[in-house]
Amino acid sequence: MARRRQLYEGKAKVLFEGPEPGTLVQYFKDDATSGNGTKKGVITGKGVLNNRISEYLMTRLGEIGVPTHFIRRLNMREQLIREVEMIPLEVVVRNVAAGSLSQRLGLQEGTRLPRSIIEYYYKSEGLNRPMVSEEHITCFGWAATQDLDDMVALTLRINDFLSGLFLGTGIALIDLKLEFGRLYENDELRIVLADEISPDNCRLWDARTGEKMDKDRFRRDLGKVEEGYQEVARRLGILPEAGVRDMKGPEVMQ
Ligand code: TMP
Repeated sequence: MARRRQLYEGKAKVLFEGPEPGTLVQYFKDDATSGNGTKKGVITGKGVLNNRISEYLMTRLGEIGVPTHFIRRLNMREQLIREVEMIPLEVVVRNVAAGSLSQRLGLQEGTRLPRSIIEYYYKSEGLNRPMVSEEHITCFGWAATQDLDDMVALTLRINDFLSGLFLGTGIALIDLKLEFGRLYENDELRIVLADEISPDNCRLWDARTGEKMDKDRFRRDLGKVEEGYQEVARRLGILPEAGVRDMKGPEVMQ
């Protein structure tokens, strides 16, 4: 394989220059961190599963007209994506109280919210992901009001669609984190879904038993972390054919 230029290395992914201008290769690692990097570990096979799960969910979203950065999966750990200008926000949408919302407001985890809530967090190295308001976002120029309107409309559609998709497999979508980018096409600006959608950035509970199948198993030392990710892939019908025996996949080439 030819040597490629690495552009960025994050906690769970690496971005390489793509084969054509305007494209990138997104490589999924097994590394896991939480608590803003204070807890580090490896979830064997996570990169392979997240690559598949994100491919599957972004493809389904593309089919209902949600614009995404996803082009195609290249191999077990890599996918080809469109290069976008990332908006430095994490958009969290919540259907059921859990995690930081429960902590902040003293809500029992598992309490269904009267309606879905959207929150914004500012992505910046060293700032520990502060929650910010629309006022902060437009005042500091992280996104324009029109960008935000587009992000909210897309977020609500994505949340509704994925809630139904997951429920069809017996999984409750408790909350999820999305990231968006700007894509310039023929002098037109479009807001597109970027990053990934996987058990790293969604809370997914068994709809009947409430069993957690997401990264909270790692964050909270609940054990059976790999099994949680595998179960999500299995229920979506996309567990790699080699099953759980060959989840290591190729190593990153630099
Ligand atoms: P929170 O309850 O900890 O704020 O998390 C809300 C959602 O965002 C949950 O699905 C996990 C996801 N998330 C990330 O994707 N990255 C992060 O750094 C954090 C803290 C949460």
